[in-house]
Amino acid sequence: MTGPGGPAERELEQRARAAQSKAYAPYSKFNVGAAVRMSGQIFEGANVEIASYPLCVCAERNAIAAAVIAGARNLEAVAVCTSVSPPSSPCGACRQVLLEFASDPKAVTVVAINPAGERRSWTLAELIPDGFSGKELP
Ligand code: THU
Repeated sequence: MTGPGGPAERELEQRARAAQSKAYAPYSKFNVGAAVRMSGQIFEGANVEIASYPLCVCAERNAIAAAVIAGARNLEAVAVCTSVSPPSSPCGACRQVLLEFASDPKAVTVVAINPAGERRSWTLAELIPDGFSGKELP
């Protein structure tokens, strides 16, 4: 885990907090907000659940989708807000999706927060070490 960051990181955390309030999670009641900084801009996502459970989409992946359709491609930092203690980290599927847009996973900070003010952070490389990426494809 890495230590807490500066004002830019706090802004990203604030956006993840705001996004959490937009979650649609009537089945799990586990509301998640995410904010990603990509190509210098911040994009928000929240989890969206569907009665056919496998169709649920995580907050992180919805944030990435918002960034991609806005033309941003380079992942710089991630914040995820849940209401549990300790703050929960991104699921495995989301780690793979985040990796897709990280040119240097060691330089991408992922911070998990909750409304109680707890914070955990890692680099993306720590969360998905030796991950599969497009570089492996012939
Ligand atoms: N969820 C996320 O949004 N992000 C994660 O990294 C973990 C799980 C969502 C999916 C589902 O809507 C709810 O949390 C419970 O798993």
